[in-house]
Amino acid sequence: MKLLVVGGAGFLGRYVRAEAARHGVPALGTTTRAEPGRGLVRFDLAEDRSIREAVPADYFRDGRPVWVVVCSCTTPMDRCRTEWDYAYRVNVTNTIRLIDDAAAAGARAVFVSTSYVFDGDAGYYPEDWPHAPTSAYGQHKSEVDRYVTATHPDSLVVRLDKIVGADPAEAHPFSDWWNLYRAGKPAVCIADQVLSPTLVDDLAGGIVTACRLGLRGVYHLTGPEAFRRDHLARHFYRVMGVPGEVLTRPVAAFGLADPRPLNTYLDSSRFAAETGFRFTPMSAVMTRFRAAVGRAAA
Ligand SMILES: NC(=O)c1ccc[n+]([C@@H]2O[C@H](COP(=O)([O-])OP(=O)(O)OC[C@H]3O[C@@H](n4cnc5c(N)ncnc54)[C@H](OP(=O)(O)O)[C@@H]3O)[C@@H](O)[C@H]2O)c1
Repeated sequence: MKLLVVGGAGFLGRYVRAEAARHGVPALGTTTRAEPGRGLVRFDLAEDRSIREAVPADYFRDGRPVWVVVCSCTTPMDRCRTEWDYAYRVNVTNTIRLIDDAAAAGARAVFVSTSYVFDGDAGYYPEDWPHAPTSAYGQHKSEVDRYVTATHPDSLVVRLDKIVGADPAEAHPFSDWWNLYRAGKPAVCIADQVLSPTLVDDLAGGIVTACRLGLRGVYHLTGPEAFRRDHLARHFYRVMGVPGEVLTRPVAAFGLADPRPLNTYLDSSRFAAETGFRFTPMSAVMTRFRAAVGRAAA
């Protein structure tokens, strides 16, 4: 098998490529950058161009099964509302075209979806809970998530919640909070937001595991722990051993263009039961982050 990681230079995409390499699975990535760099080819979903034109001529025809892992999305999230036409073309119209083109070439897709396909009222959603997105980002993801499920039953949809990392040099909530502390500023969190933080390494591991096992259908891919965002920040500062200040504000006070649902934590027990995959507890992720900060300071 081999992987084609669309959005392969992004946060998750880089980890998926590295995880594949650890298993001896070739993984080509795509980026919109003019000079893609090693292991990447240029591909922009804003352009009406088939993925088959972006990869080497025999890419889909060398006998190995191909999984196209779709990690791409317009970021930051607010652009889905403020630049609706552009974002819809990238996130929906041309992502569906990408998945159709990949299927026509004999590949199977892994579409990276989100907990934001749900309304955020109940929380702890199972896979078959009805979609009711409240944000433009969630609407875009929901359209493709439902299309893939209905049209390509051999493909896979993985829904994620909040991605975190153990590397202080990368952009994610823990490095944001650490940088705020070092700048003498408080971490200001959306009040009453409950999420399932999940280590990016585990998400990459889960996606490669799912491809190796040939899973199909919809799976929630999150750690089993759920935290209020401000509690997670307080735990983080406690593990870091620093008196970081954590404040909460109602979501309306953040002036965000695209609304954020509050209860986005997911029930991911199906994936764990079917694969035996174990997610890293947040305490261990924070301890790894602290060790990395210590190494950088030494
Ligand atoms: N981060 C989270 O907490 C979170 C939570 C739930 C779901 N997700 C989903 O997980 C996926 C990965 O997230 P991430 O945090 O890794 O995001 P990220 O670091 O912002 O990466 C997004 C990727 O999308 C690519 N992209 C953007 N516009 C594109 C276009 N027009 N054509 C082709 N590629 C384009 C980017 O490519 P280049 O910049 O290299 O050109 C980049 O690699 C996304 O689908 C996101 O919606 C993320």
